[in-house]
Amino acid sequence: MSAPLRLGLAGLGTVGIGVVRIVQAQADLIATRSGRPVTITAVSARDRTKNRDADLSAYTWETDPVALATREDIDVFIEVMGGHDGPARHATEVAIASGKHVVTANKALLAHHGQVLAEAAERQGVALRFEAAVAGGIPVIKALTEGLAANRIKRVMGVMNGTCNYILTRMQSAGLPYETVFEEARQLGYLEADPNLDVGGIDAGHKLSILAAIAFGTRVSFDAVELEGIGNVSVDDIRLAEDMGYRIKLLGVAQMTGRGLEQRMTPCLVPADSPLGQLQGGTNMVVLEGDSVGQIVLRGPGAGMGPTASAVMADVIDIARGIRVPTFGIPASDLAQPKAATSATPAPYYLRMTLLDKPGALAKIATSLGDAGISIDQMRQLHRPGDRAEDAVVLIVTHKAAPADITHATASFATTGVLVGKPVAIRIEEV
Ligand code: NAP
Ligand code: HSE
Repeated sequence: MSAPLRLGLAGLGTVGIGVVRIVQAQADLIATRSGRPVTITAVSARDRTKNRDADLSAYTWETDPVALATREDIDVFIEVMGGHDGPARHATEVAIASGKHVVTANKALLAHHGQVLAEAAERQGVALRFEAAVAGGIPVIKALTEGLAANRIKRVMGVMNGTCNYILTRMQSAGLPYETVFEEARQLGYLEADPNLDVGGIDAGHKLSILAAIAFGTRVSFDAVELEGIGNVSVDDIRLAEDMGYRIKLLGVAQMTGRGLEQRMTPCLVPADSPLGQLQGGTNMVVLEGDSVGQIVLRGPGAGMGPTASAVMADVIDIARGIRVPTFGIPASDLAQPKAATSATPAPYYLRMTLLDKPGALAKIATSLGDAGISIDQMRQLHRPGDRAEDAVVLIVTHKAAPADITHATASFATTGVLVGKPVAIRIEEV
């Protein structure tokens, strides 16, 4: 058998300890599948005294991850510290410059610096792999770069943040408001240290921008992702959407259009009986559409020790086997600078508003929509227990409309004199 592949592991948190456990528990299986043993040489984290519930005694401790990255006795640097700048970025750059292969789970790092890091890795002739960075345990990077390599990708969609899907499905099943479920998610340890990375859609936006780069052969352009978090999704809308056959998801969509690359990570309605609509709890789902293969649906755990470490180790085994695939599927220098689409493709919209229940009120709203060129597909008027007697809740599903026309129409509702409060508009994605 060939010489061992030696790992330097920076980060001994959830993912890092998961990697240690797999390397220790599956040593024989990994060696057989890799054609060589895979061993850990040295590790690094901030606090050496922390109890990590793993036997690290065989590994050299490095206080500085950058020193770990340049050690003569490692072949692969595994970065599972997190953060898109600071030590994660510096140690990764240094590892590549020192001729080490790099495996990372860090989507923020790739979303912000993926192009520069990929170019550097190619110059050095080393691998830069990141299966764990998108949708945790789901092998979506491999699916796109290898399994679907012969396809022109038409669209990438998905639910890529388990915390947001947990919050939205819990709001739906328990009828609890956002704030209560957010607090529950915090207690359960689901939220990132900065919760806005989750609920603000940023974490999922990072993942979408990475998938879009591979799918469309373009440079990662996270800054061009249209981002909206779930903080404004109300339990009222979740219930009313459900009554109309829809569920609300934080949905990522990337597609190349005649107007440029469209990347959105926003709350959307999807049919309740679709695979995306059926997705419950912290599970992730990625939908890939290729010209030859049609639609592929990948579903699985997007986070957690075992699933994320499983993806890290899949990259390590590929490196041990000598498999080399360009970081984003094609040489980094060939990745095109994408032109960002300035607006999203037209879609049907769900509109909810409260109107004064008096003659002509609905006609005024219909006129505002008509003036904006928007056609109504379905409409309902409700009086629910607890609603004010003088109000009526009105739900409208439009035919396909341009997002700018929806914004214009809903803004004009305020001038009708019949609107109470603010209207809600949520895109309905055709999945
Ligand atoms: P974590 O539990 O917070 O662990 C981070 C580890 O990095 C800790 O061991 C910490 O040391 C170490 N660290 C942080 N700053 C350091 C520094 N300056 N120098 C040396 N070590 C440092 O994080 P995680 O959940 O494992 O996530 C790691 C990465 O994987 C992140 O990029 C995350 O986005 C990504 N990821 C995580 C998941 C998941 O389910 N957790 C899923 C997919 C991707 P101490 O322990 O001493 O504090
Ligand atoms: N915060 C992320 C999630 C973890 O909830 O999906 C994995 O990236």
